[in-house]
Amino acid sequence: MSKRIPGIIVLIGAQWGDEGKGKGADIEAEEAAVVARFQGGPNAGHTLVVNGKKVVLHQVPSGILHPKPICLLGGGMVIDMAKLAGEIQGLVDLHTPRARERILIAKNAHLILPIHCIIDAFMDRDNRIGTTKAGIGPTYADKHYRTGLRAGDILLPNFEERVQAHCRQHVEEKPALAEAIRVAGSADFEQKQQKFLEACRNLRQHICDAVDFINTALERGETILAEGAQGTLLDIDHGNYPFVTGSNSTIGGVCTGLGVPISAIERVIGIAKAYTTRVGSGPFPTELQNDIGTLLQERGGEFGATTGRPRRCGWLDIPQLKFANRINGFTEIQLTKLDILDTLEEIMVCTGYSVGGAPVTASSVMNRLEDITPQYVTLPGWRKNTCGVRSFADLPKAAQGYVEWIQEQLGVPVTEIGIGPGREHNISR
Ligand code: IMP
Repeated sequence: MSKRIPGIIVLIGAQWGDEGKGKGADIEAEEAAVVARFQGGPNAGHTLVVNGKKVVLHQVPSGILHPKPICLLGGGMVIDMAKLAGEIQGLVDLHTPRARERILIAKNAHLILPIHCIIDAFMDRDNRIGTTKAGIGPTYADKHYRTGLRAGDILLPNFEERVQAHCRQHVEEKPALAEAIRVAGSADFEQKQQKFLEACRNLRQHICDAVDFINTALERGETILAEGAQGTLLDIDHGNYPFVTGSNSTIGGVCTGLGVPISAIERVIGIAKAYTTRVGSGPFPTELQNDIGTLLQERGGEFGATTGRPRRCGWLDIPQLKFANRINGFTEIQLTKLDILDTLEEIMVCTGYSVGGAPVTASSVMNRLEDITPQYVTLPGWRKNTCGVRSFADLPKAAQGYVEWIQEQLGVPVTEIGIGPGREHNISR
């Protein structure tokens, strides 16, 4: 009987995505045999700075920048093969060691077809949700309609016909789509379709039985890093519905997305920014539509890695983090971008929500965050540059106090603190 050793380390965004998971994953990936994405698709964007070079990864797990890990695009993902082909080429151009050999695609991951991007843009034409227009929602919808195409289908002899049939079916069922394709330019659409098919042909050797692969690695006692995309408040079930993404970005998504038992999960790392940001539409209780919001946006470079959209900025929200902790069961927190607060005299933090004067929990109002009034405490700023600091003890006292206060509020240790964009700009404690 083979003994299963818990070996999965999970990284999950505790807020609205863009918490800096890429950097956390990059650090944790060093020792991992496998780094796996379990949900989402090219709506994610991880910006990493390695040896001064900026790298943006959308679908390939961050572990690829280390020489060792196998990088798995898991079955819970929706994959845009044309974009993936471009991303892999970019990694090859960066001389990433054995980039092609180390990328695997789960056969049960769903394929984003060009038609899904048209549907996404069409359905969200008024920016009601503010999606990334990357085809995420429509691809997950087809998965649940049980009409979707999966990576394993690429290996079937009639794959191309199935793609054409799938596309025809969409257009027949939704006549407005034919018009949307016409507006997008049907020649352009046909070109995208061909590019998609070509990418599928070129990437077919990466397709694997991911459940077998990952469980065999676990049985060998290897460490697996499960890298989340988006964040807890964008989870399709637990987030701020309907302003959410199409997948489970919380802990449950690891088991369903990778096909691993819950008992294999060893650590759950919550990634939280030292303040809060949100892209897309939807309520944002601690949003700062003032000079401080602009300062956070500019100092933090808060522009979407995927869409380039400016991110809305606000104070840290403790009820939101407590909610994220309840759902995910964080064993530790990595706090990112503390240095962005360096110039502030005072820092406000939301400690509670109320409706009509009565206190409420974040979970009870998750679908009507626009109705709540946030309660704040004001903490002292430190007004010192923290970027070169190497140890917790060398941080200004008020910065240490800010970190310790957050830790106390959540009852979870803050183990890593980000104080700059590079790998070296991190304090472990
Ligand atoms: P979708 O995932 O493209 O369907 O977009 C749904 C919502 O999730 C929109 O508000 C997006 O802005 C947001 N979203 C999707 N991916 C990310 C991400 O990686 N970071 C932050 N927000 C995201």
